[in-house]
Formats: sequence, C-alpha cells, structure tokens
Amino acid sequence: MSTDTPASRTSGVPLRTAVAALPPYVPGARTEPGARTFKLSSNENPYPPLPSVLEAIREAAGDTHRYPDMYATELTETIAASLTGHAAAQRIDLTVTPDEVVVGTGSVAVLAHVLQTVCEPGDEVVVPWRSFEAYPIAVAVSGATFVPVPLASGTAPDGAPLDGRLDLPALAAAVSDRTRVVAVCTPNNPTGPAVHRDELEAFLAAVPSDVLVLLDEAYVEFVRDPEVPDGLAVYAAHPNVVVLRTFSKAYGLAGLRVGYAIARPDLAAGVRSVSTPFGVSDLAQRAAIASLHAQDELFERVEALVVERARVLGELRDQGWQLPDAQGNFVWFELGEETVRRGAEAREAGVLVRPFAGEGIRVTVGEREANDAFLRVAASWRR
Ligand SMILES: Cc1ncc(COP(=O)(O)O)c(C=O)c1O
Repeated sequence: MSTDTPASRTSGVPLRTAVAALPPYVPGARTEPGARTFKLSSNENPYPPLPSVLEAIREAAGDTHRYPDMYATELTETIAASLTGHAAAQRIDLTVTPDEVVVGTGSVAVLAHVLQTVCEPGDEVVVPWRSFEAYPIAVAVSGATFVPVPLASGTAPDGAPLDGRLDLPALAAAVSDRTRVVAVCTPNNPTGPAVHRDELEAFLAAVPSDVLVLLDEAYVEFVRDPEVPDGLAVYAAHPNVVVLRTFSKAYGLAGLRVGYAIARPDLAAGVRSVSTPFGVSDLAQRAAIASLHAQDELFERVEALVVERARVLGELRDQGWQLPDAQGNFVWFELGEETVRRGAEAREAGVLVRPFAGEGIRVTVGEREANDAFLRVAASWRR
C-alpha cells in the first residue's frame, strides 16, 4: 500500500487561525531556463553585480563554514556612516549611530520584525491599500489586525490625477486607540507615486506620537520628484518614525537578501532582539559593504534607469496611456478585469510582468531591450 495517502500527509495539528487565513505572497514570474523572456515582474535591478562587489562575494565564499557576525558590526557601521554623510550633504541635522540601524534578510524581514516588536494581539496596523503585498501577511503573522485604507482617486484641486497616490488624511483618520503602526509606502509599490513633504508633515502632526510610522523607502534612490521629502529629514524630526531601506533595488543585491531599518536606539534594540540570529549571511554583509563603497558607480546605474523610466513613460503616454506618476523602478497600469488576460499576452510575447488580478499590472523598468519589448506589448494592448 502506498504511504503517500492524504492521511499520511497531514499532521493533524491545527495551524494558528491567522496563519491558515494568510493570503499567498505571489512572487513575480520567473524566466524558464532557455526561454527568451524578459523578466520585468519583480522590480529587480537589471544590472549584474559590479566587479568589486563580486570580488567581495568571492572572498567571503571561502568562509561559509563559519557563522556570520551576528551583529553585522561592520555593515551597520558602514550604513550609519553613509547615512550620516548623506544627511550632511543634504544639510539635514542628523548623525546616525550604528545602534539606530538594524539589518535583516531583506527589508521584508525587518518589516516583520518591527511589527513583532510593537504589536500585541488585537492591535491594529493601518496600511494604504493597494500597496506592497507582504504587508497583510506580516501584520497577520504579528497577531495584529490589518486595517486597509483605499488609495486616493479622482483629481487634486489643481486638476492633477490622484490615482495611485496614498490618501494620507484617510490614513490618519483610520488611526484608533488600538493602532500601533501606520505604514507609509513611498514610492508606493505597485502604483508608483511618492508622498509629498507637506502632506506627510500634516499626517505626522495628526498621528499620536506613540504610534509607530513605518516609512518604507525601498525605492528611495529612484525618486526624482522634488516635492518628496528625504526620509532621513523626516526621521530626524519625528522619533516615532522608522525608515525601511533595502539593498535589493538600487544596489542590485536582491538575491543576497539585505535590508535595514533606521530607528531610535530603544526601538532598534527591540527589533534586533526578535530578529533571526545570524540571519544576514557573511556574503550578504560583505557585498552590501562593498556596494556602499561603490555607491557612486551604482548610482550612475540608477540614473540610467531613471532616464529609461522617463523614456518608457513618455512613449507609453504617446501611445495614449494615462498612467500614475512613477517614482520607483516600475510603471503601473490600472487594467481592472483585463489584467489577467493582458498579463498572459505579455508572457506570450516574451515579457514577464506582475499582474494583480482584477486590479492592474506592474511592469519593472529594466534594460533598454526589455523595455522596448514591453513597449511593443503595451502598443498591442491599445489596438
Ligand atoms: C515597498 C517594498 N518594501 C519592501 C520590499 C522588500 O524588499 P527586500 O525584502 O528585498 O528588501 C519591497 C520589495 O519588493 C517593496 O516593494
């Protein structure tokens, strides 16, 4: 008799209710081996690691029989120094000390650790929605209640379309006595716009000072809108703000999993205490340090992607598309019921995009050839 029966494949142990009910995290489609496809489905950086970063990884590879530095001491110090240097260059009165930096296996892990640090069962986490799909999962796992707040729609007083922007007054209004955290994803994944200085200051003034405001700046290096505040300036002025950043996007280290939070030392210590011990590998730590040392070179690549973003948006608008502002490395198409069909058509044409069924399609800005292939797909959607 086969042992592979349903009975032998179930444990009989009930899962936590919140876990059993989790929505799946849908990863961007991956290219199949040998297939000629462009992967614009996961907001990755199309450039491979720099030679200096590869060299650091190669050197670290020989030490993989050892645990990494659990406190990521050198990386944390290098991040703190880099942020302090950035603040000085921007005339922001801020010295970031290493005890204000907590690293994790991608900012998605740090996000979960932040929530686990402050949320008790039944607490509420207010989140703009549609936004980064890991939010509802991380909130549910923390034991808190996910409180989604719809994005803005319609037009601003000056006639500019609001679609895809966060509705900060509505987020502030959703804060209750049970709220422990409000997420502000800027630029918002998957829609693209970033929050502006004035609206964010009004929001922060309205939110109680013991509610943690999570400023998720995964795409901050791609922002060019001058109305968008520097997260470090916001952090300097508001002790309850925690900034989340990552090496996965602009720094091109998505496969190595390193992200971090910037938080006041007491909060940072709490986050560190719930983090997976030795989570960030030595390869990842050394690659991130090498990347910070090669920041100028990496930011030239970011600038090239920003130029590509402008070209892609310009051509799409010429095709007749009305699209939200794109401040990250991706473009958002609100396609409603057409979404799944259009996503399949793109795949057939050799371009992998990220459909959100019933809502829209997010397309990463990649290398020029990939973008051209997608532009042809977008043109075919208009016929
Ligand atoms: C808004 C936002 N935050 C955080 C992340 C997490 O990135 P990582 O875990 O690779 O640092 C992503 C990744 O797509 C994102 O879009």
